[in-house]
Amino acid sequence: MKASTIPNSHRFLPGAAAAFRRLPLPTFTTVRMSLREDAPSLAVVGVTGAVGQEFLSVLSDRSFPYRSIKMLASKRSAGKRITFEDQDYVVEELTAESFRGVDIALFSAGGSISKQFGPLAVESGAIVVDNSSAFRMDQKVPLVIPEVNPEAMAHIKLGSVKGALIANPNCSTIICLMAATPLHRRAKVLRMVVSTYQAASGAGAAAMEELELQTREVLDGKQPTCKIFKQQYAFNLFSHNAPVMSNGYNEEEMKLIKETRKIWNDMNVKVTATCIRVPVMRAHAESVNLQFENPLGEDTARDILKNAPGVLVIDDRAANHFPTPLEVSNKDDVAVGRIRRDVSQEGNYGLDIFVCGDQIRKGAALNAVQIAEMLL
Ligand SMILES: NC(=O)c1ccc[n+]([C@@H]2O[C@H](COP(=O)([O-])OP(=O)(O)OC[C@H]3O[C@@H](n4cnc5c(N)ncnc54)[C@H](OP(=O)(O)O)[C@@H]3O)[C@@H](O)[C@H]2O)c1
Repeated sequence: MKASTIPNSHRFLPGAAAAFRRLPLPTFTTVRMSLREDAPSLAVVGVTGAVGQEFLSVLSDRSFPYRSIKMLASKRSAGKRITFEDQDYVVEELTAESFRGVDIALFSAGGSISKQFGPLAVESGAIVVDNSSAFRMDQKVPLVIPEVNPEAMAHIKLGSVKGALIANPNCSTIICLMAATPLHRRAKVLRMVVSTYQAASGAGAAAMEELELQTREVLDGKQPTCKIFKQQYAFNLFSHNAPVMSNGYNEEEMKLIKETRKIWNDMNVKVTATCIRVPVMRAHAESVNLQFENPLGEDTARDILKNAPGVLVIDDRAANHFPTPLEVSNKDDVAVGRIRRDVSQEGNYGLDIFVCGDQIRKGAALNAVQIAEMLL
């Protein structure tokens, strides 16, 4: 697994959440040969946030070529300094003028900012890779996981289009489909039942801080502070904090359902999901039950997953060793284990798997940078 070069103070292990909020922003000191005159100009929108910082880490790790890079955030952060690949940058306030001369803009500042500034960036000629849910279900906007459906954005290349939008799927969808798609390709999934165990980092740095603070408070016998979530998070778990809709599903669950259909280009696949927040600092886990049209044995499934790009099989029954959020934190690969025949289904028509993935990395920044790589 490829490790992130993000500084230790930002790795979101216990003790790190508060450090994240206490900027100065980190220094990415590795000098790379990626600063080149013939390369695209970049903008990172939301550069001071959890995903924005990971964008910088991934761009550096993968030696993404660029001739210039704009660091954009809100007025609150304007003037802050970031050192990236041995160059000093000043964070600028995001405005309608920010995208002049920008070729690729990586957005991670929330849905309302994407809705307001995404189209302006496109008008200026930039190709926007957006991490929010603002455009995911727009039929004209490709929703892409590079290992799964690269063909959806095959018509968009730097130099051949003037301005375009590409959406990054929801983090739970990416992690689930990284594991389910290689099996779907072989045996065709008819129905998928997903249960998620989602980390604090998915709700941003402030949620991580709250989990850390609450843990200390509860151990000290104090009343836990509840600001980000309405209920106690430490030593507890609860239904995902996304708004609950009239059909009883919350928005996170419906994203998984709708995005899977769009990415697989299969409006008939049956998907249901239950999304839960668990008191884990970073990286999501998901239990996935699959029902297939064609038979698929567990040994064949394990072999398929072992050969799937971006997937790491951790499936040691003898040692009871399977994927954990800690093992995948700050890693690129999605880990899969507990690969077993679903005994509630006849024959080899059902499988259960357990998946863990770093949702700030493959679930957000890494996936978006891989999309940007496909534009070159
Ligand atoms: N965290 C995840 O695992 C994850 C995964 C997939 C997708 N996403 C999506 O990525 C986006 C960011 O998430 P995050 O966790 O990184 O959030 P975050 O840590 O709260 O960071 C938010 C970023 O947006 C910027 N921002 C806020 N208001 C702004 C404005 N008016 N103009 C310009 N910039 C503004 C913030 O800048 P300031 O510092 O100046 O406030 C900060 O850089 C969200 O859409 C989220 O749904 C997150």
